[in-house]
Amino acid sequence: MANFGFIPVSLSTLYPTDGLGLDLYIRPQGYERPVLFSSGAPLQQQDLSRLEETGITKIYIRRESRPLYQEFLREHLDSWLNDAALPLSTRAAALNEVVRDTIGESFKSGKADAIVGAALRLGRCAARLLVGERVPFAHFARYLHHDHASSTHAANVCYYAVLLAAETGFCEADQAQIAAGALLHDLGMLEIDDRILTKDGRLEETESRQIRLHPANGFSRLCRRTDLSVGQLMMVYQHHERLDGSGYPVGIDGGEIHPWAKICAVVDVFAALTSHRPYRRALAHQKALEIMCRDGRTFDLELVRCWESLVGGLTRG
Ligand SMILES: [Fe+2]
Repeated sequence: MANFGFIPVSLSTLYPTDGLGLDLYIRPQGYERPVLFSSGAPLQQQDLSRLEETGITKIYIRRESRPLYQEFLREHLDSWLNDAALPLSTRAAALNEVVRDTIGESFKSGKADAIVGAALRLGRCAARLLVGERVPFAHFARYLHHDHASSTHAANVCYYAVLLAAETGFCEADQAQIAAGALLHDLGMLEIDDRILTKDGRLEETESRQIRLHPANGFSRLCRRTDLSVGQLMMVYQHHERLDGSGYPVGIDGGEIHPWAKICAVVDVFAALTSHRPYRRALAHQKALEIMCRDGRTFDLELVRCWESLVGGLTRG
């Protein structure tokens, strides 16, 4: 569909407010182009309910209004996360939009301080909402995106990692750290040429070698920081290591891989397989899990089984 200068946003991220100040558009069935729904006026609950009743889940804003919309979400995220009266759908959708946007923007800045600061703050937010409030996985999955943007991948790996960490018994403080580490896991990709990252076809050997440098690049960029733990650094450095020693950058075996990096490895591959790529559509959850279990010596199978039980809930939800 042509976008006509509009971008879709989840209806769930809007909440009755007088502070939005944006023109909102809807695209009724049969209309090619969005039409004006509300012109910067205070948003009332009955307006939102009216849309929900007609089955509308997406609303449109003008592309140039995106910074305003993102600012609105960022400004409200903390208070929304603490507001138990607010529907979980609003909080989950807002969290995901803010994580994707903020991480995307900080990656674009290329500044480690901005990226780490955002990851630490949003990692805590993700853990607080997903684990603290026991958000049903199936419920949260509705708000996820599956495009191949690096910020989408980082966000999904973050949510999956924190859920798997909680399920396997890591404490609250560790969960928040693991969530932040997951947001940072592919930081080293910033140094890889965009032409390689967005290439449609098969990579040349030299291009693959470039990609395989990203864990070491990320690690060397972050290893002197005092605000990251060893576990988080190992998520960055070891998330492509494999239990049988077939991974990179070093090819160490399972005994030497940090437990947080093992979690990151499982959810990183799952998130990649279940997202769209320029060269293939997203795989179904079950198909992705089958592929991951095909060679039982690659991933920690206990973690994969645990993840499968969570995803089972997701696919049934
Ligand atoms: Fe990676």
